[in-house]
Amino acid sequence: MESDGPRAGKDMQQLPMLEEAVVGIKDGKVTYIGETTEGIQADDIIDCQGKLVTPGLVDPHTHVVFGGSREHEMALKQQGVPYLEILKQGGGILSTVEQTRVASEDHLFEKASFHLDRMLSYGVTTVEAKSGYGLDVETEVKQLKVAKRLQESHAMDLVSTFLGAHAIPHEFKEDPQAFLDEMLGMLDLIKLEELAEFVDIFTETGVFTVEQSRDFLSKAKEKGFGLKIHADEIDPLGGTELAADLGAISADHLVGASDEGIKKLAQSGTIAVLLPGTTFYLGKETFARARKMIDEGVTVALATDFNPGSCPTENIQLIMTFAALRLKMTPEEIWNAMTVNASYAIGRGEQAGQLAVGRKADVVIWDAPNYFYLPYHYGVNHVNTVIKNGLIVSK
Ligand code: NIG
Ligand code: FE
Repeated sequence: MESDGPRAGKDMQQLPMLEEAVVGIKDGKVTYIGETTEGIQADDIIDCQGKLVTPGLVDPHTHVVFGGSREHEMALKQQGVPYLEILKQGGGILSTVEQTRVASEDHLFEKASFHLDRMLSYGVTTVEAKSGYGLDVETEVKQLKVAKRLQESHAMDLVSTFLGAHAIPHEFKEDPQAFLDEMLGMLDLIKLEELAEFVDIFTETGVFTVEQSRDFLSKAKEKGFGLKIHADEIDPLGGTELAADLGAISADHLVGASDEGIKKLAQSGTIAVLLPGTTFYLGKETFARARKMIDEGVTVALATDFNPGSCPTENIQLIMTFAALRLKMTPEEIWNAMTVNASYAIGRGEQAGQLAVGRKADVVIWDAPNYFYLPYHYGVNHVNTVIKNGLIVSK
């Protein structure tokens, strides 16, 4: 199988597949893909008869480095207190900020490592990791350093995003622009120390406006960062259009994306990263318009949005079921959205998300008779074996 670019619109229906396949792995790389073992020598053979074999999944939107947890918010949710109201009262993201500020770097490292192990066990071999629970220079750097250490030491591949503009901290409640300036002031250091490739912002009612986001992201772009936006997650403000205008690599959430915004994504090639687990967990009836996006030719990816508030799950297989039932995506579209397209959404299109000769051997063997099976049989883990860089890391 040759390497491919991202699959947009109706091309997402294409899913290259071999019925009787052999995958050769040597020194951490894929060396052979074919339909016969004739003439091939191997030290170890894994018999995958009756099983599904795929590239490692890519989760292109997570907030995996954070302190504490937020189970106490469940009761508020049950009483119908909206997510943005909890944030307004100083809870939500700001509660995790408090817990992250007081946590040591080593503690955050151990905790994130635990979550990454769990993600690997569900078949994910590459993730994006956002900061954004520090909201001050010291803690944002601490979070980003944890992600960098994990990239250097954990089996998982991590791609780092600076989300300093995730919420307005108490200290800057009266002056959000001063806060954004402080976060912008970190960009040179982040570049210098290679702490993040992408810059993201939460464009939302009560958080940052479209104009503040435009200014913030434009400055990040000038400094050479790729852009991402938490766009139109709860209220339809126009973050989708902004992402396309600025040539962001991805626009994420998009529950309230307008017709115009969707058209613009198709034109700009900005990847729509949809997060139906979050919409489910926020208790919303209306999900992102994936069908419309695909019909209009948008490149769609899927992610967990793993975080302690709006989507506390590492189980990306559950997201497949939400994508099937609530986004009405086909199994082929779902697999493309969690492999090829997800890898392009984090700038790893040439390294991850596809099984191809010469690429890293990131391979998952599933206890499933076919690829339709995963979105169908839900809530459990179908992984048989996860191979990362040619080594078995989860079984
Ligand atoms: O993608 N919306 C902003 N950020 C996260 C939630 C973070 C949190 O609640 O801790 C999201 O939904
Ligand atoms: Fe998020």
